[in-house]
Amino acid sequence: TGRAPGAWASPRDIAERTAPRRAAAEEATENPLRIPPLAPAVQDGDTRVFDLVAAPGRLAIMPGGESETWGYNGPILGPTLRVRRGEKIQIHVHNELGEPTTVHWHGMRLPADSDGGPHQMIEAGATWSPTWWVDQPGSTLWYHPHPHGSTEVHVYRGLGGLLYIDDDETTSDLLPNRYGEDDVPLIVQDKTFDEQGQIVETGRRGVGMLGTTLLVNGQYRPTFRVTSELTRFRILNASTARSYNFGFSDGRSFHLIASDGGLLDAPLKLNRVQLTPAERAEIVVRMAPGERVTLHSYPQDLGAPNVPTGAQHEFDVLPLIAADELRPSPELPERLTEVQRIDPEHAVTSREFLLHRDRINGEPMDMTRIDEVVTVDTIEIWDVENVSRLPHNFHVHGMQFEVLSYNGQPPPPELTGWKDTVFAPPGVPMQLIMRFDKYTDPNLPYMYHCHLLWHEDSGVMGQFVVVEPGEEAGTVTTGLDWP
Ligand code: C2O
Ligand code: CU
Repeated sequence: TGRAPGAWASPRDIAERTAPRRAAAEEATENPLRIPPLAPAVQDGDTRVFDLVAAPGRLAIMPGGESETWGYNGPILGPTLRVRRGEKIQIHVHNELGEPTTVHWHGMRLPADSDGGPHQMIEAGATWSPTWWVDQPGSTLWYHPHPHGSTEVHVYRGLGGLLYIDDDETTSDLLPNRYGEDDVPLIVQDKTFDEQGQIVETGRRGVGMLGTTLLVNGQYRPTFRVTSELTRFRILNASTARSYNFGFSDGRSFHLIASDGGLLDAPLKLNRVQLTPAERAEIVVRMAPGERVTLHSYPQDLGAPNVPTGAQHEFDVLPLIAADELRPSPELPERLTEVQRIDPEHAVTSREFLLHRDRINGEPMDMTRIDEVVTVDTIEIWDVENVSRLPHNFHVHGMQFEVLSYNGQPPPPELTGWKDTVFAPPGVPMQLIMRFDKYTDPNLPYMYHCHLLWHEDSGVMGQFVVVEPGEEAGTVTTGLDWP
């Protein structure tokens, strides 16, 4: 992999590269947004079975030429897996990358041996076939590699895809629900390209690699043609390091209807929504016939003014062009769901997680060390605080949690739904409450970590097991041959 000399992302790079977008409207018909295909599945008895092949590919992303890429079932990213609450699924993952990888089902409530963390390695040429029952609210999850130490580059080269959980509420006809038409996936990533159009890895500092070029669904400067009065965008920040602060170029408001783990109680009217790496937001925006507006990322506060974070960068994400006639959409319902809150009175214990620059609670990640032992079928409060000067976020495997408090206050409304990843700016304590109802095995840990992937790779990660009362941590026996 090459390294572009001096290819630091700077506000000027971003500004120069996005300025010609004034002409975006004219390009609309030339570069329509590519929608990831839906993954086909076959029914095998009680199980719906999917196939993913991780392999290298080539794709012309930038005008300069073709780039070498990695993808699932195609040159970049992967198909959208749609599964339904209550069904049993199996996913065959074939690894044709030529080196070991894993695939983690981010946000999924599932047994640890199907989780796809660094202990479920798939050797080059091998196939891994996890299976589980889908048992959690409808939501926009995703999948990506998780080989310890190489997660960042595996994602950066192009591996990642969406995983939707459908249930009656999230697929209701009261919400925009036509895939790719008025229910539109947007996978947002930044990368750096060289003059030949190759994806290049740059140096890391602060948050990690900040790319100079924005891709949406693996595509450079696409445009989306709006065909309905209301459009739902399911936005995934699949960047390795960059956070975004989404809004519309004319300042119009939109409704946030879902966060990481599913629908909010009610649509929340906003002008901006911030997503740190791995977070998702489902937003619904109204357009009038013939209108044009651009989804944009605005400068934001990442709480670390003296660190290169990209917080000041501003750029266009996706120009929207509404057709002259729009399909009528029903008004958004006043209530979307009832988020089942966990009663803090039922918490049996609390634990503290201090996020340092390159470690948690003083210890860098060690694949052989189990950091926390949790009792199955209990509720815990996790006190998380970033005590470094860098921005971090915090992700827990195997479940969705609820934010109980944020900076000593009740959580802001956008954090009142189920979450699996939450922004942790320096010096902001937060309490997360979660229920551990999947027994793992004393030897088979789940992960918790910062989802800025360079941070994760360099040690801001730890491991927990979920065991019977009185059981002790075992010995990690998997994945030890990882370099
Ligand atoms: Cu999306 Cu452990 O990660
Ligand atoms: Cu971090």
